[in-house]
Amino acid sequence: MTDIQSSLTEACRKLAEISDSAELDAEVLLCHILNKPRSHLRAWPEKQLQTEQLEQFFQLIRQRRQGIPIAYITGNREFWSRDFKVTPEVLIPRPDTELLIELSLELLHSISKPRIIDLGTGSGIIAITLAAERPDIEVLATDLSPTALAIARQNAEIHQIANIEFIHSCWFNNVPPSKFDLIISNPPYIAANDPHLSEGDVRFEPSSALVAEDQGLNDIRNITDNARRYLHKNGSLLIEHGYDQQTEVQAIFKAFDYINIKTHQDLSGNPRVTTAQWNAE
Ligand SMILES: C[S@@+](CC[C@H](N)C(=O)[O-])C[C@H]1O[C@@H](n2cnc3c(N)ncnc32)[C@H](O)[C@@H]1O
Repeated sequence: MTDIQSSLTEACRKLAEISDSAELDAEVLLCHILNKPRSHLRAWPEKQLQTEQLEQFFQLIRQRRQGIPIAYITGNREFWSRDFKVTPEVLIPRPDTELLIELSLELLHSISKPRIIDLGTGSGIIAITLAAERPDIEVLATDLSPTALAIARQNAEIHQIANIEFIHSCWFNNVPPSKFDLIISNPPYIAANDPHLSEGDVRFEPSSALVAEDQGLNDIRNITDNARRYLHKNGSLLIEHGYDQQTEVQAIFKAFDYINIKTHQDLSGNPRVTTAQWNAE
C-alpha cells in the first residue's frame, strides 16, 4: 500500500522529464482515478491507495510519459466553466477560444432571438457555450468530420442543449441559403511546415483540425468570402487565427469589403480574433 502523497511524488518524478506541468498532470490524473476534486489530495495526503487504484494511476502516468495529452487520457476538458467530452478525433479546447465567446456575447447583447453559425464546431464548445448562455439563440453548427459532429452532439446532450442544429458540411457547402446575425469560426490555421506541429499536445491532435493550405490562411479566406452571402446587413464575422496572422487576416477581410475590422488580443496579449461587419444586404 502507498499513500496519496508518496504516489504523487513518484509520479511527478516520472513526469518531470516530459512535462512542464508534472505536478498538475499527476494530480489531475490521480483525481481522475479517484473521481475526487484536487482538494481531496490536499486534505488526505496520508490516505492509502488500493493496489488497483495504484496500478490504474501508474498506467495513466505511462500514457502521459508517451506524450499523450491529459485531455485525451481523461476524456474531458473544461471550457467556459463547463465540462466537455474530448477524444483524439477533436481539437482539445483552448482557453484562447474563450475570447470568441466573450466577443460573441457582447455582439449578441442587443439582438433578441439571434441566429448564428459555428463553422468547424469540433467538440461543440463554441456552439454549446453560446446556446447555454443565450437560450433564445438559434445555432447552426457544422463540421467536415462526422466523428467530431457525433462528439459535439453528445456534448449538447450532456449539457441538455436543444437549440443547435448540427450539419455535416465542408464550410458553407451544405448550409441552406439563409441570413445570420453572427458567423463564428475557429478554423484550422496552422501552416503545414510549422515546427509547432511536432511539439507537445499538438502532435496527437487531428491534423484536419489544425492545418490549412496557403500558410494556414486557405480556410480563413474561404469562410470570409462565403460568409458574405449568409450575413444580415450589419451582421458580424468572428474568426480565431494564429498569433502572427493579424496582418494577413485583416487584409483578407478588407479584400472582401468588410467594415469595422478589428483584431482582439487573447489573455496572453496575442492578436487572436479578428471581427468585422458585413455592410450590404
Ligand atoms: C481548430 S478546430 C476547432 C474546433 C472547435 N470549434 C474549437 O474551437 O475547439 C477546427 C475544426 O474545423 C473542422 N474542419 C476542418 N476543415 C473543415 C471544412 N472544410 N469544413 C468544415 N469543418 C472543417 C475540423 O474538423 C475541426 O473540428
